[in-house]
Amino acid sequence: MRATEIIAGAAALLASGVSAEAYLGFNSGNTLADRSAKFKKDWVQEFTTAQNLKNAPGTFNAVRLYTNIQAYSQTSEPIEAFEAAIETNTKILLGVWASGTDTIEPEIKALQTAISTYGKKLTDLIIGASIGSEDLYRVSVTGIQNKSGVGAGPSEIVKFIGDWKKAFQGTAIANVPIGHVDTWDVWVNGTNKPVIDAVDWVGVDEYPYYENGKGNNIENSGYLFDRAFDAIGSAVGDKPVWVTETGWPYVGQTWDQAEATVKNQQFYWQEVGCRKLFGKVPTFWYNLRDSNPDNEMKFAITDNLSTTPHFDLTCPSTFKTTPKASSSGAKSTSTATGTGVSAPSSSASGSSSPEAEKSGSTSSPSSSEPVTATVPAESSVATGSATSVKGVSAAAVAGMTLLVGVFAML
Ligand SMILES: *[C@@H]1O[C@H](CO)[C@@H](O)[C@H](O)[C@H]1NC(C)=O
Ligand SMILES: *[C@@H]1O[C@H](CO)[C@@H](O)[C@H](O)[C@H]1NC(C)=O
Ligand SMILES: *[C@@H]1O[C@H](CO)[C@@H](O)[C@H](O)[C@H]1NC(C)=O
Repeated sequence: MRATEIIAGAAALLASGVSAEAYLGFNSGNTLADRSAKFKKDWVQEFTTAQNLKNAPGTFNAVRLYTNIQAYSQTSEPIEAFEAAIETNTKILLGVWASGTDTIEPEIKALQTAISTYGKKLTDLIIGASIGSEDLYRVSVTGIQNKSGVGAGPSEIVKFIGDWKKAFQGTAIANVPIGHVDTWDVWVNGTNKPVIDAVDWVGVDEYPYYENGKGNNIENSGYLFDRAFDAIGSAVGDKPVWVTETGWPYVGQTWDQAEATVKNQQFYWQEVGCRKLFGKVPTFWYNLRDSNPDNEMKFAITDNLSTTPHFDLTCPSTFKTTPKASSSGAKSTSTATGTGVSAPSSSASGSSSPEAEKSGSTSSPSSSEPVTATVPAESSVATGSATSVKGVSAAAVAGMTLLVGVFAML
């Protein structure tokens, strides 16, 4: 059974021809910084800038979306990012909102509508689909403590994955690899293993900036990233890991030892992006533009979608983060095994992602806490509601895409 699944999965990956490609892209919510909906022209601008960034170490011609539904649509209209992607030849990692709902039918319907309209022009661009985003974090101990909002458990995510596969069985995207995006500690929590088993790849959001109490100064950021990334890799066994969000802010409060500056943004780009990810791991950087008005931390690498970023994107040929020399003093983790998932030890637990409203808070986290978390993301969107995230009840979250940034911690 398991071997059969592996073979089927491998065949699917080969059939879709996408297994080995280290995509380069950014994240993109469906609203702007003033919470208004993005339209086709907004995405055309984004995608055009992304592909023409000065000195970029590759072509950023992929995008990670959070939903298939156009912002504020009451009728599951397809997100206009699809049209923009077709026009600019941008690859698409689909997103499906999976919390606060017992059905992903509106998401499926939006994509089916788009496929019937655009056909192969659209389906040829689809490189993957993430069923859910940080849903398991939100139902974890730290997520609940931090009132991170409505989430979904592993059985719900697995069910939605099944619903998705069934809906697109025998269609042009039947072999598109399915993933789920979540935080580090989620992937080493044994209760979530059914989700690992159900996906073709594992998506991880990781922000060393928010790792207070762990020596999160910029010089140490590469080491913190590596530790989390390598532990995830071990925990999920043979499933490929995609980095679905990572980045460093250039504006914002000093978070323990982490300072938000353009200089540090460049250091992180070089030491994590260039050294570890670009050309090696499918990567969706956070971010090309900022769009979460509630987050005082700003992560954009450009102003106003200029193709000249805040800093020179050129990758250096040598790096400061060297294989040994970890200066963080953090305990080594014992949670990851080579064969599968193990429960996190108490010293390794923790990762959080407070809800969007919290992200603007100026209160500094206690340095005694093992981990911090946050929401660097943009937010908002929604079917059935034109209100901001803040005004929406848990029950109304269905169909809403709340882009939550997270950072995973060891
Ligand atoms: C482990 O995962 C389960 C299911 O997602 C969740 O209910 C539980 O709270 C998680 N454990 C911790 C320590 O977060
Ligand atoms: C970006 O655009 C805004 C609004 O047009 C403008 O006020 C601002 O000066 C621009 N920033 C840069 C760096 O060009
Ligand atoms: C909750 O989030 C805050 C940051 O907003 C962080 O400092 C704290 O460690 C988190 N709590 C837990 C239990 O993870």
